[in-house]
Amino acid sequence: TEQPQSNITWHPSLTRQERNQLRGQRGFTVWFTGLSASGKSTVATALEQHLLHIGLAAYRLDGDNVRFGLNKDLGFSEKDRNENIRRIAEVAKLFADSSTIALTSFISPYRADRQIARDLHAKVSHPGDEPLPFIEVFVDVPLEVAEKRDPKGLYKKARAGEIKDFTGISAPYEAPEAPEITIRTDLLSVEECVRKIVDYLAEKGLIT
Ligand code: PPS
Repeated sequence: TEQPQSNITWHPSLTRQERNQLRGQRGFTVWFTGLSASGKSTVATALEQHLLHIGLAAYRLDGDNVRFGLNKDLGFSEKDRNENIRRIAEVAKLFADSSTIALTSFISPYRADRQIARDLHAKVSHPGDEPLPFIEVFVDVPLEVAEKRDPKGLYKKARAGEIKDFTGISAPYEAPEAPEITIRTDLLSVEECVRKIVDYLAEKGLIT
C-alpha cells in the first residue's frame, strides 16, 4: 500500500535528542533560589520574556501557578517545603524533557532539596537519553536589602512574630555552595541580570 507520508519514520520512542532536534531547541531547567524579595520572580519573568522574544519555548513555574494549584495543600514547615520543591522539580523536569526551558522561582531554602532537584535532572530513565541540564541561579542579596524592600510587608510581620517559620528570620536559608550563576539584584539592573544568564546559556550551547 502507498505511504501517504513516506518521509516520516516512526520510532518506538523518541530519544530526548531527537525530540530537541524536532522542536528546534534544547530543554533544560533554570532553577532560581533566594530569599523572599530577593528578585527571583522579577528576573525569571524578564528572562522568560527574553527567551520567548527570541523564539524559544520557555515557561516559568512560580508561587502563583504552583502554590495556588498543584501545591495548594502545602504550607511552610520544613516538611511541606521539601515536598513543594520535590514536586516542582518533577514538573520542571517534565517541561525540560518536552524541549521547553523551565524556569523555577521558589525560595527553595534547603540545599538538600535543591540537590534532589539537580539529581533528578541528571537521572536518565531511557537508554540513549542525555541528562537534562540544570542551571542553579543564586539570587543573592543581603537579608537587610530584602527586608528593606519588603514588598508584601511579610518581613515586618515575621519580625513582629505574626508569621512563623519565615525564611531568613525564623527559618533557615541555606545559600548555594556552587551555583552555576550568582546574581546580585541590588548591584545589577534586571536587564544586566538577564544578560548574565543569557550569556552563560549561550556559552554552554544551550541556546543560540
Ligand atoms: S519555598 O520555601 O521554596 O517552599 O517557598 P516558596 O514556594 O517559594 O514560597 C515563598 C513565598 O511565600 C510567601 N510566604 C513565605 N515565604 C517564606 N517563609 C514563610 N513562612 C512564608 N509564608 C508565606 C512569600 O511571599 C514568598 O514569596 P516570594 O516571592 O519568595 O517573596
